[in-house]
Amino acid sequence: MSDFIAQLPKAELHVHLEGTLEPELSFALATRNGVRLDYDTPEALIAAYDFHDLPSFLAIYYKAMEVLVTEQDFFELTYAYLKKAREQNVLYCEPFFDPQAHTSRGVPFATVITGIHKAQEAARAELGIESQLILCFLRDMSAESAMETLLASLPFKDWIVGVGLDSDEKHNPPRKFAEVFKLARENGYKLTMHCDVHQLNTHEHIRQVLDEIVVDRIDHGINTLDKPVLYQEVAQRGLGLTVCPVSNRFVVQNLTTAEIRRMLELGMRATVNSDDPAYFRAYMNENLQALADDGMTRDELAQLTRNAFAVAWLPDARRAQYLDTLEQYLRQAA
Ligand code: ADE
Ligand code: ZN
Repeated sequence: MSDFIAQLPKAELHVHLEGTLEPELSFALATRNGVRLDYDTPEALIAAYDFHDLPSFLAIYYKAMEVLVTEQDFFELTYAYLKKAREQNVLYCEPFFDPQAHTSRGVPFATVITGIHKAQEAARAELGIESQLILCFLRDMSAESAMETLLASLPFKDWIVGVGLDSDEKHNPPRKFAEVFKLARENGYKLTMHCDVHQLNTHEHIRQVLDEIVVDRIDHGINTLDKPVLYQEVAQRGLGLTVCPVSNRFVVQNLTTAEIRRMLELGMRATVNSDDPAYFRAYMNENLQALADDGMTRDELAQLTRNAFAVAWLPDARRAQYLDTLEQYLRQAA
């Protein structure tokens, strides 16, 4: 099974670039930028990772990313993730970035996105991994700040495929950002939003995402399964759900294998993703392996992978090429 997973041609649709910041790179950047870290070694930093819910994770995540300052830092962060992903046979990915977590510290939007974009181009040319970037707004900041960020992104819109919404969901409903997402749509961006697992008012948030924001995809979305009106709508629209099993094990103490299986049974287009792999210590292969160890079959893992290419924001001809590559692999591995 581990060979099957390692060689499986994969797509990743839910990974925060800032969540790929490995402790070793953190230390290197801290030294280069004269930023003091609270720990003496990468091992000590990892040992201090203590998260049990979304807020406790986010506190560590935002603090750690303060070492990212220059264009070169964002280049190195992005290139390192893409290299790791390619080594795991991820052929295509749509990573998120959180510009407000940097602009709020005085790092210009252009610095962040230029470093990321140059790494995407270099990785495409040198490693053969294709990627398209998704800009996430921080939902615990104001709608005005999100709107400012959207406007700052427009000169770079050829480098961005879509927008998302992340950070702390509590008391930050999708509706708060309705105007921002409407303008994003008018500018040609695809739309997705986090519907994190077991959040306060999750069903109302999912309803808003479906009916008011009218997203093209849902990030996480496990709680759609609680109500037939929600999961029937998601299935009927063919919406992708970017589920993150190992992340869920940290944040809600459950790998959600049963829920992912149920999504497949209901014909929902669930996919498997790593979310914040440097923190949860699991990239794509480790996420798929965790599901396999929990009883998922090859056929189920194949369907989850097929779904990822099917719901990726790719032109249809390119999608068909990736799906061909995947089906060829599956035939040969059978
Ligand atoms: N930012 C980074 N990872 C996140 C997650 N899983 N949920 C919400 N915001 C995030
Ligand atoms: Zn996420």
